[in-house]
Amino acid sequence: MRTHYCGELSDSHDGQEVVLCGWVHRRRDHGGVIFIDLRDREGLVQVVFDPDRAEVFELAEQVRSEYVLRIHGRVRPRPEGTVNPDLPTGAIEILGLELEILNASETPPIQLDTHTADVSEENRLRYRYIDLRRPEMQARLRTRAQVTQVMRGFLDSQGFLDVETPILTKSTPEGARDYLVPSRTHPGEFFALPQSPQLFKQLLMMSGMDRYYQIARCFRDEDLRADRQPEFTQLDIEVSFMREDALMELMEEMIRTLFREVSGVELPDPIPRLSYAESMRRFGSDRPDLRVPLELIDVADLMDGVDFKVFAGPAQDPDGRVAALRLPGGGALTRKEIDGYTQFVGIYGAKGLAYIKVNDWSAKGREGLQSPILKFLPDVTVAGIMERTGAEDGDLIFFGADKTRVVNESIGALRVKLGQDLGLMQAGWHPLWVVDFPMFERDANTNRWVALHHPFTAPKEDQIASLEQDPGACLSRAYDMVLNGTEIGGGSMRIHRETIQRRVFELLNISDEQAEDRFGFLLKALKFGCPPHGGIAFGLDRLVMLMTGASSIRDVMAFPKTQTAACLLTDAPSVVDESQLKELSLRIRARA
Ligand code: AMO
Ligand code: AMP
Repeated sequence: MRTHYCGELSDSHDGQEVVLCGWVHRRRDHGGVIFIDLRDREGLVQVVFDPDRAEVFELAEQVRSEYVLRIHGRVRPRPEGTVNPDLPTGAIEILGLELEILNASETPPIQLDTHTADVSEENRLRYRYIDLRRPEMQARLRTRAQVTQVMRGFLDSQGFLDVETPILTKSTPEGARDYLVPSRTHPGEFFALPQSPQLFKQLLMMSGMDRYYQIARCFRDEDLRADRQPEFTQLDIEVSFMREDALMELMEEMIRTLFREVSGVELPDPIPRLSYAESMRRFGSDRPDLRVPLELIDVADLMDGVDFKVFAGPAQDPDGRVAALRLPGGGALTRKEIDGYTQFVGIYGAKGLAYIKVNDWSAKGREGLQSPILKFLPDVTVAGIMERTGAEDGDLIFFGADKTRVVNESIGALRVKLGQDLGLMQAGWHPLWVVDFPMFERDANTNRWVALHHPFTAPKEDQIASLEQDPGACLSRAYDMVLNGTEIGGGSMRIHRETIQRRVFELLNISDEQAEDRFGFLLKALKFGCPPHGGIAFGLDRLVMLMTGASSIRDVMAFPKTQTAACLLTDAPSVVDESQLKELSLRIRARA
């Protein structure tokens, strides 16, 4: 049907007759001459129809945006002065000799030659097949395909086997709600869609597969954000007889290869590691954005003699934290801007945002500072703050004082927001590993221990004996890879001894009976020769989002769902027939 893609033509084709197929990107009438920009997957080319060829010209006049055409024409250089250096095919044009309209199109609800920002996301999702015609979206999906290709190539070369695991399965706990599928053949019973292939990949290690990978679809019914979808893709990996250091090195090599081959970027070797504790202390987050050159600084110990409950309380509370954040040049912030940031930290539960403006500390000392809280702070505290933060004239110091969790979340988020607002973000890619995670954390609602990662993560070997004595102090063999503030992957070495798995379930308040019911198959499998093993899963959508500079993972998925987990294109989810419900032994409850 065709000889070339539109976008691959150049002056090297000068004089050749070509047959092209594609969509009408734009049609312009210019004083008796018709120009059609014809578009296909590889790009755009300009086709010219002149009135001398009356029959073809008449057809060209009927053509509208997004018509599908087959054009036979001759490549020729563009006349002097009309060369378009911004277009890869801009040096040439096609003289149209024959034209066939393969299909007409109604006026498209999305203008393809305007900017995405001008189109509502609702329309983009509803008419996704049109939205995906945009070169920007085509480029993103192409990058996505390259990413999986490079990853497969790397893993194949390292002896990994691609094994598929079930989609209709039993609930695996990754901390989100399950999507359930009713069983017709087992009335009243349900499958769960996998939140991840976690337990199957562990079983594959017990099956002797040694090195497994899968590009796996995962389903999680959780609150959605820009980097979360109810249905997303992991590059899922598991290995036997390998310790975390070796696995992390191998994974680094994979990610470095990926960035080199797809983006031409050289990532650091090795990728730096940071303990969870240090990450929380310096950045208030376990997925720190290292592009922002600001850090939290603990000042609780300086608050001893302070007559200001807001600071003194958290300073004395073992679960509290008082942290300072020095903003170089921040003295220029207006009162209104500071009020804005006070509101911003409020989102994270902060009850206020104290600050000190350093106007002229070098000459005037205390008199050169400006702050609503200065009156509460004795000289030694002020001097201590100035010394520890290293603040200089023209700077501003923010303070957060509260429960540690609130300070970390609010000042951690403020750190990133200031970085963005004030243009402090350093360029480039700043990956890191976060390691030495706690095994457990207390659930604020139930006050019970919950697994920070998942309940199959192994504790550090030297802590196995003392697991029950101080669960809160126990560290795990988990690791996350973080890139520019996004968690792109996470994994761990697993528990491979049944007795330890049982002890961890017990600590997590999972009774023997529940454990048997939910994970009995795993506990049994652990008794039949389970090798030491571990693995990781990378969020493919998030990786591609970062690599393409997209601002949401929706923009790197062909058919994503909305913030309320619906598909506008197909109108799913939808009501089903009474007969289908009956077959499944289901009845819809009246809404409360
Ligand atoms: P985890 O839950 O950390 O680990 O998930 C691994 C990676 O998947 C990505 N991710 C998501 N991406 C888009 N939308 C979501 N809703 C979403 N949730 C997670 C993140 C994350 O780092 N079974 C373990 C892995 C293991 O231990 O090997 C797991 O699923 O990038
Ligand atoms: P107040 O005494 O409530 O007027 O607060 C004095 C200053 O402390 C104001 O600038 C508040 O924004 C700030 N502030 C109040 N609570 C906190 C807190 N938990 N952490 C940091 N600053 C706070």
